[in-house]
Amino acid sequence: MQIVYHPDPVLRRRALPIASIDDAVRARAAEMIELMHEARGIGLAAPQVGWSQRLAIICPSGDRGDERVLINPEILEDDGEETAEEGCLSFPKVFGNVARATWIRYAYTDLDGQRLEVEAEDLHARVVQHEIDHLDGIVFTMRMSPADRLGTKKAVRELEKQAKARDGR
Ligand code: NI
Repeated sequence: MQIVYHPDPVLRRRALPIASIDDAVRARAAEMIELMHEARGIGLAAPQVGWSQRLAIICPSGDRGDERVLINPEILEDDGEETAEEGCLSFPKVFGNVARATWIRYAYTDLDGQRLEVEAEDLHARVVQHEIDHLDGIVFTMRMSPADRLGTKKAVRELEKQAKARDGR
């Protein structure tokens, strides 16, 4: 399992719901948790490892053991707005401001198949919104202001060049 980088088309695809939680799903989730920590991330969505299904790992504290596996997550309610800088493991060296709700109530299914509802604020709420965007094929640069997006252009172009070099195109 590897992290896929922009401009891989899987990042722009809407991921499909997970129909059943089996050992294969649990094994992949465990692998994603490892990969996320190795990359020093606080969130990782399945499309970012080339798996177009609605599952994401979040760990707003960054502490091992604090991860939450979100299966088929959805935001039920949101409130407030704050703009803050974000990064993304699929966009190395790209950072930019994104406006997000400061409070959300969301639902997800855990690895035991339980449907849970959680209220979250600040960084926790931001990470959930960023990861659910990934499941909808939305990457954070699409949420930036035109000025901020312009500021990321060089780093984004560099990623596109690297992808071309890898593909031998
Ligand atoms: Ni991301």
